[in-house]
Amino acid sequence: VTANTHRNIATAHDDQKFGFGVASGEAAEAVRLILRSGRLDLRGLHSHIGSQILDLDGFTLAARRALDLLAEIAAEHGVALPELNLGGGLGIAYTSADRPLAPGVLAGHLRTVVSAGCADLGLPPPRLAVEPGRSIVGRSGCTLYRVGTVKPRAGLRTYVAVDGGMSDNIRPALYDGVYSARLAGRVSPAGPMLSRVVGKHCDAGDVVVRDDYLPADLRRGDLLAVPGTGAYCRSLAHNYNHVPRPPVVAVRDGQARVIVRGETEADLLRLDVG
Ligand SMILES: Cc1ncc(COP(=O)(O)O)c(C=O)c1O
Repeated sequence: VTANTHRNIATAHDDQKFGFGVASGEAAEAVRLILRSGRLDLRGLHSHIGSQILDLDGFTLAARRALDLLAEIAAEHGVALPELNLGGGLGIAYTSADRPLAPGVLAGHLRTVVSAGCADLGLPPPRLAVEPGRSIVGRSGCTLYRVGTVKPRAGLRTYVAVDGGMSDNIRPALYDGVYSARLAGRVSPAGPMLSRVVGKHCDAGDVVVRDDYLPADLRRGDLLAVPGTGAYCRSLAHNYNHVPRPPVVAVRDGQARVIVRGETEADLLRLDVG
């Protein structure tokens, strides 16, 4: 199944490292080995086609392929596996142009596809499971950056460098993750300025927001907010260039509280044994 997403986060086609191939017969062979083992209890099938998926097509195809395999297993072994796990992948909006599926729409659709497929194939409907990750936590996070330099490139755009970058959010460098930025901390009367928000690391690919409009009076010291960083940002954060990772602050009902303190140089050096 080729999910409609970036190739580095599409996980269900043959030419990559994940899972058992269905067309190649690997999945059927894995089922045979498990059933023969006498030690393993085969509960069902699992598929995860990829991440940040904004349409239904890949999920539909994955569900149908999994049901076909369930039917083949039932025919070969006389067992109706009780569970079908259709993985995660439900995308979220990173910019105002993104139109993500509502969880209820995807859930209802999967139930319909699975019920209809089971009726066609003469299978008892399996217990359905999903593993949403980003769609649960992605929108809960927002990264705040302080502007360091503002550099206009005539006829192109303005580069806005901030005090973070690919060490706290590697998604743009890793698979062209798209984000948006807003001026936080003050209201600006200035018109829009085509901007690229870049990090403090020594790579031209150290981009936080590739294209967005920021106020033309943006200046050093301003705060920028980048929403949608609650998934795959802190968990992928690293110490490239020995940049310490920033703190995580929880906000509720107008109250802020540090829940993960920021790293210090002492933290970075503590593993050195001299
Ligand atoms: C097996 C599996 N299930 C679920 C997920 C969650 O995916 P997402 O955050 O895109 O919903 C992942 C993410 O890598 C995964 O590998």
